[in-house]
Amino acid sequence: MDHVAPDRELTLRRALLSVVAASALTGVLAGLGRLGVLVGWGPTYAFEHGPLLVLGTFGTVIALERAVALARPWGFLAPLLGAVGAVATLAGTSWSPWAATASALALVALNAAIVRRQAVAFTWLMLLGSAVLALGDAGWALGWPVSRAAPTWIGFFVLTIVAERLELSRLAPTPRWATLALVVLASLLALFSFAGALGVEPSMRALGLTMALTAAWQLRYDLARRTLRRPGLPRFAATGVLLGAGWLLLTGALLAWRGWVPAGPLYDAALHGVFVGYVLSMVFAHAPIIFPAVARVSVPFSPLYYLPLSVLHLGLAARMAGDLSGSASLRQSGGVANAVALGLFVLSLVGARYVTRR
Ligand code: HEM
Repeated sequence: MDHVAPDRELTLRRALLSVVAASALTGVLAGLGRLGVLVGWGPTYAFEHGPLLVLGTFGTVIALERAVALARPWGFLAPLLGAVGAVATLAGTSWSPWAATASALALVALNAAIVRRQAVAFTWLMLLGSAVLALGDAGWALGWPVSRAAPTWIGFFVLTIVAERLELSRLAPTPRWATLALVVLASLLALFSFAGALGVEPSMRALGLTMALTAAWQLRYDLARRTLRRPGLPRFAATGVLLGAGWLLLTGALLAWRGWVPAGPLYDAALHGVFVGYVLSMVFAHAPIIFPAVARVSVPFSPLYYLPLSVLHLGLAARMAGDLSGSASLRQSGGVANAVALGLFVLSLVGARYVTRR
């Protein structure tokens, strides 16, 4: 819930979102560079692709959204440090992992304050998610390669999104045992993602199984199943949520079956099944709701939003097919489509706002 933000705070929020945008653009161009598609300054940042998107972009946005929810000035330390980490990465410094770790620790404090205010399942799950992130980021700062910290990043995203959806699903009657089952699954997810990062066998397969079960829970109990019947923004958001849960189910099953391979096509499939299929789909689904709350810029619904959503999912299907069949060109076309979908989504948000203002 947003409070009435004073002008200075609103300026800070928008400044942070500008850093997020720079981090996102560079991160996507860097991802294209890793696929061999050389666009702009992307190739220079090929190694920073993951941190720029996971930490600089979405880590900062999630921290900002939580800071707005807490509505205390000190809460903005977490997104501020996230933005400092993004700028440090863009500037090529060696200390950016430490800024990311400090941001994650500030997010733990922020989520703990929210738990103190409202100790319910979804606030606890967010706290757990940020603790997993802080452990992974600290490992990365101490020298772990990205492929080792990545399971904790998966854990952070899945826990945060599950918690957000659990909060919204309070509006739909969920059996008590089902909520309890979700809390157990989410706790296992936190445990396995950290144990997976530590290299404890067979944590990553167990993480995959837990992800698949969590996704099955969402497909069965999420509020999206009801809102799918309501036209306009509710149906669009529900479509994004359910498609995202579908990808989490498939990726979890793949991880449970093939295990974690820290490089190559299976690595690409395990990471982007979650980061593109689950996270970006949820971002598309929630952006028209969260963006106005955080930036105070109204974003009306437009049926145009279905275009980027379709390109995102069709592109990911091609990318996964390429990863699993060993077709580099299919993988590359799918990855390019994922980037194009992001561009189209931004354009359709701007377009919808422009048309409504006219
Ligand atoms: C939108 C288009 C995207 C493209 C074209 C892209 C491309 C790639 C490629 C080619 C790799 C290397 C995989 C390998 O080693 O085989 C990679 C790794 C990775 N990607 Fe993406 N990606 C995209 C989106 C994302 C998003 C949205 C996230 C996170 C939210 C993300 C996070 C990562 C991470 C963490 C790695 C591992 C990096 C490392 O080990 O250094 N990617 N990506």
